[in-house]
Amino acid sequence: MNENHQTDQFPEDDDDQPVARAWAEPLDLLIARRGVLAGGAAGAAWALFGGTFGSSTARADGTNPSTLKFTQPPHAISDGHTVAAGHDARVLIRWGDPVLPDAPAFDPRNLSAEAQEKQFGTNNDFIAFMPLPAGSRSSDHGLLCINHEYSNTELMWPGLNKGASAHADAAQTAVEMAAHGHSVIEVRKTDGAWRVVAGSPYARRLTLRSTVMALSGPAARHPRLRTQADPTGARVIGTLNNCAGGKTPWGTILIAEENIHQYFSGDPVPGPEAANHKRMGIKNKPRYGWGRHVDRFDVTKEPNEPNRFGWLVEIDPYDPASVPVKRTALGRFKHEGGGSALTADGRCAVYSGDDQRFEYLYKFVSDRKVDRANRAANRDILDLGTLYVARLEADGSGRWLPLVQGQGDLTPANGFKTQADVMIETRRAADLSGATPLDRPEDVEPNPVNGRVYAMLTNNTKRKADQADGPNPRGPNPFGHVLELTPAAGPDGTPDHGADSFTWDILLRAGDPSRPDHDAHYHPATATQGAWLAAPDNCAFDPRGRLWISTDQGSKQKKNGIPDGMYACDLDGAGRALTRLFFTCPRDAEMCGPEFTPDGTTLFVAVQHPGEGSTFDAPSTRWPDFRDDMPPRAAVVAITRPDGGPIGGPGGG
Ligand code: FEO
Ligand code: CA
Ligand code: CA
Repeated sequence: MNENHQTDQFPEDDDDQPVARAWAEPLDLLIARRGVLAGGAAGAAWALFGGTFGSSTARADGTNPSTLKFTQPPHAISDGHTVAAGHDARVLIRWGDPVLPDAPAFDPRNLSAEAQEKQFGTNNDFIAFMPLPAGSRSSDHGLLCINHEYSNTELMWPGLNKGASAHADAAQTAVEMAAHGHSVIEVRKTDGAWRVVAGSPYARRLTLRSTVMALSGPAARHPRLRTQADPTGARVIGTLNNCAGGKTPWGTILIAEENIHQYFSGDPVPGPEAANHKRMGIKNKPRYGWGRHVDRFDVTKEPNEPNRFGWLVEIDPYDPASVPVKRTALGRFKHEGGGSALTADGRCAVYSGDDQRFEYLYKFVSDRKVDRANRAANRDILDLGTLYVARLEADGSGRWLPLVQGQGDLTPANGFKTQADVMIETRRAADLSGATPLDRPEDVEPNPVNGRVYAMLTNNTKRKADQADGPNPRGPNPFGHVLELTPAAGPDGTPDHGADSFTWDILLRAGDPSRPDHDAHYHPATATQGAWLAAPDNCAFDPRGRLWISTDQGSKQKKNGIPDGMYACDLDGAGRALTRLFFTCPRDAEMCGPEFTPDGTTLFVAVQHPGEGSTFDAPSTRWPDFRDDMPPRAAVVAITRPDGGPIGGPGGG
């Protein structure tokens, strides 16, 4: 068991803690708004350009109008990873590598929960780079905070086939629970290469099996969150299915609990939570059979346990003794990201998608302003504020609708007696509020350079042709698209994340632009100067504000015939929406977690589930070790340039 370090919830900074002491140099996110005001590295282009699918100066004559000039790797699926010419892509840490100092060596034929509690978990997703010293903009030393979203049982043990997760035995269940969660590691770049710092005091594993977490905000302590193991409704062991996430302006991270329904067995009918569980997809058809071994994952035994998952969890990685906190004021749904930005008046806005077909896009805005001088003053800032859901009109306008108990249809008559009910059943509250169903909102990130917000709508094969509308223009939509929101301007004339209204545009419609049946749309030079993509999932921005998209085609990778990986494009100027391929994942893997260092000279990416769809005995790739005695292993890759220059190259823009 790894009870490492947990003591109190965000203890006050003191001299005993290796936490931030000097916040004189603001974090990347703190300068985000200032960057917009100053025009950012790319200039105040947000106001000058725009217009979908590239500007009228787009060229299709064989020259590349993008500011990204790197030579692309082959747009083809392979057993290994590839990266654009002029870059190095090195594996930094893999499933099973040591995180805690006393972690045993990885032994894939003798997995144990005790070992896995100390080793890097599987299926890495979100990555946050948190500079060291804390509060600095260091780009060669920091913490990497990494989610472990889920596990592929049949790739972890011999003799298993697809569907094995539903039949895992008790020991396998314990290993899988330990393989979920989160890792914090310290990393340093020396002689041009990143390495994990062994024996770091910051190193931490957070797992579903052992890590105590707090619940705070409007739903904390509510009877609907209480269980036999936790009669307080304020304490929960672990976090589940952590997909994307985000960083806060005060140097903590938010990790998202996404597909929680996959873990709960038992028929929720009849019972007071039956409709709630059904809306979250808990229908006694779990992917994982954990409920056979662990009572809390059987809703007939613990009907409230699912209500303790589906939140955004705040973690202070600079304080390894801190207790992670599930912030219920940000709502409960299948959270994807948690990207934040400051509002014009200095409050904190957090964006998050609900990744399911026909679900919604959300924004939380804190009541209080972020205290830039006193980090500890922001400790509970995410407990008080307003959660909004997006409504997008066909004319390109949009509004953020507040989800507040007592307003509109969020009444006791509709089952919303308190704000806790609104937070526990956020989806139903959004239904009643007139929100716009979207094509699976995955990562949603505010761009610190241009002030706009980018939502990856990964796909929706269930949207019918007659359900196509402005923000979801294709039915069905097997390839996904990227939505661009421009918040209404604040007092200084730049986009204000605190505004109630916005305009929206579609940056690109994914798919193959040479195939009329795909109805894809990018910059017209994409076919000759770039590369098409499918299923945008996560995203990041380089210091110039350009968009870097990671993709997850799932089981459609083979059918589409293109690899998952990193694709990048300009957002303004002549190269807008010209996607270029930068990195490819190995076969049957998806790309997650893109994260730049503040100076843009390193891009960390997470290669998730290499070999998915195959088995431990006959894996479709043995990436990254390519040894007969090693299964495929999800891993974090650090991408740098031998010349130490910016990722993507100097560019021509
Ligand atoms: Fe875990 Fe929505 O991807
Ligand atoms: Ca995702
Ligand atoms: Ca994904």
